[in-house]
Amino acid sequence: MTKILLTGGAGFIGSHTYVALIDAGFEVVILDNFVNAREDVPERLRQITQRSVACVRADMRNTTQISDVFDTHHFDGVVHFAALKAVGESVSHPLEYFETNVTGLTNLLKVMAAKDCRNLVFSSSATIYGEPELLPIPETAARSFTSPYGMTKLIGEQLLEAMHLSDPNWHFGILRYFNPVGAHASGMIGEDPMDIPNNLMPYIAKVASGDLPELSVFGDDYDTADGTGIRDYIHVTDLAQAHVLSLQKLIEGKSHIVNIGTGQGYSVLEMVQAYRRASGKPIPFKVTDRRPGDTASCYADPQRAKDILGFSATHGLDDMCIDSWRWISSNLS
Ligand code: UFG
Repeated sequence: MTKILLTGGAGFIGSHTYVALIDAGFEVVILDNFVNAREDVPERLRQITQRSVACVRADMRNTTQISDVFDTHHFDGVVHFAALKAVGESVSHPLEYFETNVTGLTNLLKVMAAKDCRNLVFSSSATIYGEPELLPIPETAARSFTSPYGMTKLIGEQLLEAMHLSDPNWHFGILRYFNPVGAHASGMIGEDPMDIPNNLMPYIAKVASGDLPELSVFGDDYDTADGTGIRDYIHVTDLAQAHVLSLQKLIEGKSHIVNIGTGQGYSVLEMVQAYRRASGKPIPFKVTDRRPGDTASCYADPQRAKDILGFSATHGLDDMCIDSWRWISSNLS
């Protein structure tokens, strides 16, 4: 059986990818430091998959801890999620972002080379397009950054390209995620609702549940139909499936760089309406100033992912909101 190391496998996207990989017949070991994941995620994954979960507590900044996991298991590939991801926090704490996201990746690559494991799926982001020069955004668009977080993702991509040049036996799947939302249909895993969210859908969810009083809509004077920002929201279980397809391509020896989005953009106000429909709850909001660094519109050209991976998103906006609401409403404190 093909054995995969899933770094950050207890986090939001990681936990959904764990389920998708198990369903696809992979054997999976999770590595996580639980800095941004609930302690009970492995137990929830056991309940969803009805199988015991192999999970190691380790930190990407510690090469010995990574190496120890590779001493115990022979891996055919790695899916690397373990990273910090809050844009605003990266501006105030750039060193932490470089340590975890860049040093963490170099540590992993060193251990993988030493253990002769050269298949890696890397979590990249639409953030590497900076201020998009073209919509929908194709993978050939110029790369840039608007935050230290974005720099670390761009450096990650460039490092992998350099590794591939140095040794063509390295195979990389670089997946550029757009805006992952929603939750597993079981309602047992999702985005952790304990913190005050930075991102739109978890914030709306907390307003719907009554945990937060109202949403701030960051600007209604953008050059879009209703003036609010447009993004390409993708259901996290679709995103998880993209990792399965990416790994299958890597194991055939085919590297790739692809956008993972739906190709369909929705505005902030459309998201509020959809969540109202899904939850049946009021979602009060007020319009405030634009958030620094935000762009008007960002949505993917998803064609390359379809051509290379055979990937297309199957869940629409209503599914994303219904599944998010099931997760939030069944885990209210
Ligand atoms: N927004 C609000 N109010 C909020 C939160 C967000 O109006 O409380 C708006 C934003 O201005 C934007 C849209 O909702 O128009 C989406 O914002 P998010 O913060 O949910 O997502 P972003 O597109 O800004 O950023 C996300 C990830 C980044 C990633 C980027 C890739 O958070 O990590 O997508 O495009 F880099």
